[in-house]
Order: sequence, then C-alpha cells, then structure tokens
Amino acid sequence: MIDPTEPDPVTRECAGGDAGDASVQVSPIPAVNVASVPQRSPLRYPGGKTWLVPHIRIWLKEIAPAPRLLVEPFAGGGIVSLTSVMEGLVERCLMAELDRDVAAFWHAALRHGPALQERILRFAPTRDAVDALSRKHPHDVLEHGFRTLVLNRTRRGGILAPGASLNRAGENGKGVASRWYPKTIVDRLSEIENHAARIGFCETEGMKLLDTLLGGSDPGLVVFVDPPYTAGGKRAGKRLYAHNEIDHPGLFEMLADSGADFLMTYDHTPRIMSLVKKHGFEVVQVIMKNTHHARISELIITPRPVFSG
Ligand SMILES: C[S@@+](CC[C@H](N)C(=O)[O-])C[C@H]1O[C@@H](n2cnc3c(N)ncnc32)[C@H](O)[C@@H]1O
Repeated sequence: MIDPTEPDPVTRECAGGDAGDASVQVSPIPAVNVASVPQRSPLRYPGGKTWLVPHIRIWLKEIAPAPRLLVEPFAGGGIVSLTSVMEGLVERCLMAELDRDVAAFWHAALRHGPALQERILRFAPTRDAVDALSRKHPHDVLEHGFRTLVLNRTRRGGILAPGASLNRAGENGKGVASRWYPKTIVDRLSEIENHAARIGFCETEGMKLLDTLLGGSDPGLVVFVDPPYTAGGKRAGKRLYAHNEIDHPGLFEMLADSGADFLMTYDHTPRIMSLVKKHGFEVVQVIMKNTHHARISELIITPRPVFSG
C-alpha cells in the first residue's frame, strides 16, 4: 500500500522552518515526510494533501464520538476522505467533485472496482497507447474512469486540465510510464473496494452540496475543505484544474453560519487571512518546499483551536 517513491505531484514536502508570516503561528505538528504516510489514492493529484494527514488525524481524533460523516466537497484525489474512513477516524465519507473526468474515475473505482483493476493490469502504457486512449471518446463510465487514471498517471504532474502535457522524458527517465505502477494502483483500488460501502461520491458542485448538508445542522457531520484556490489570481488553481472558480467569501460565510466542525486549507494570502479574521477562525501555517524548492506557507483553518494555543 505504501509507495515511498511517490509524493503528490505539486505537494510540497513539509520542511518545518522559518518562511512565511511571523504573525501566524506555525503548526506544532512535526514536519512529516510524505513518504511516511500511506498513499491511499490511486490518483497522483496536483495539490494533493498527503502532507496534511497527520493534522487530519489529530483533528478527527479529538472529536468524540467519532464523526458519523466527513464531507469533502472538493475531493480531487480524495486522500483525506480515504484516510479518514480507512483509519476508522469517521464512520463514512462523502466526496464531491465537479470535474467529469475525475468523477468518472471515482464512479469506476467505487462501482466497477474489479473490472477497473483488470484493465489496469492488462494495459501497456506505451506512448502510442496513451495517445490513442486520450483521443478516444469513452463509451461508459468504466472506460472513462480508466482513461482518467491513465492520463493522470502519464501526464506531467498528474495534471488533467486542458493543455497538460505528457510525461515525455518521464519523472525518473522512464518515459510516459514512469508513474505507472499497476500493482500499487490495483492494491489501492482493492483497498478502496474493501471500504466502498462507507465511501460515498457525488459528481456535483461542492458548494451546493455543502449548502444542502450544512442546512441540516447534523452534529455528527464534519467538513474537510480544500478548494481550488485562485483568489490570489496568479496561483496554481487555474493551471491545475478545469474547474477553479469558487466564491471564497461565500464559502467562509457558509461554514461560519453552519456552526459545523471543519478543517480547511488555503494558500497563505492577505485576502484569505482577512476572511479568517473576519469570521474569528483559528489558523496555523505549515511551511513547505514547492517543487522548485521555494519555501511556501499553507494555512490550516479551523473554527476552534486544534493546533494553536
Ligand atoms: C485542491 S484540489 C483538491 C485536492 C484534494 N484535496 C487531494 O488531496 O487530492 C480541488 C479540487 O476541486 C475540484 N473542484 C473545482 N471546483 C469545484 C466545484 N465547484 N465543486 C466541486 N469540485 C470542484 C477540482 O476539480 C479539484 O479536483
């Protein structure tokens, strides 16, 4: 299950340290090497949150009784939902994703697991085979989900958004197949299948789903929010995801009004910090290195002190 060679593509290693804004407390959770956390998602997700798993464990373990439902409205590779269910931190999860290709992958993984696994084991990821698959219009959800997985694992940085390029030289000199590990992917899928009865997925607009669920004031519901972030204008969201327009102030408002327990991650920008202050949320920063080894700060926002204080 653990593939130590494979951090999330745009995910930064936790480095601990001294970058960022000194007015925001640095999270006391020790810096974690993403290789030490089980990689449970079959997708290599740009902006994936494997590095956040130790924080998620602490956040959810503090809640008693264990939450009945974790909602993840911007699921992507779904690492937080998968980890929470598989480690028994929550009873069930519900992921939402608007991207049709990513949604097809989750439908295929959850409803057609054995057939998807068989296709993976049969596939030889040559350049020609990948090109042919990318041109083909999938005729059912299994084929569509399989196509998403192959493109995700053969395009540079796992990026599926329009304009993404193939992993030509390969990320370790092995060409398009450099991130195609059929056995590892199949193991992850079979683990997902083992827990499928507790994993829900909706192809839908995450904000609308949240609006509906939070209106029910269910005390057993918690929310993990990792939106595509474009509020700063120049950050990665637009390049990485086909869907990237979110009403960030509206999202903060909705969470504040609901009174629900949540954990949210964002890039560290003045605009997000002003929303945090406006709603009186708690915030810590985690300092990481990006793929270009620049130090960046990511915010972890909660309604109550979990990592601060
Ligand atoms: C930052 S990524 C999530 C990464 C995820 N936490 C992981 O670890 O893999 C944000 C995701 O939200 C999706 N998304 C964008 N707009 C959405 C919307 N309105 N509703 C649901 N999902 C959306 C994007 O397609 C992208 O997959």
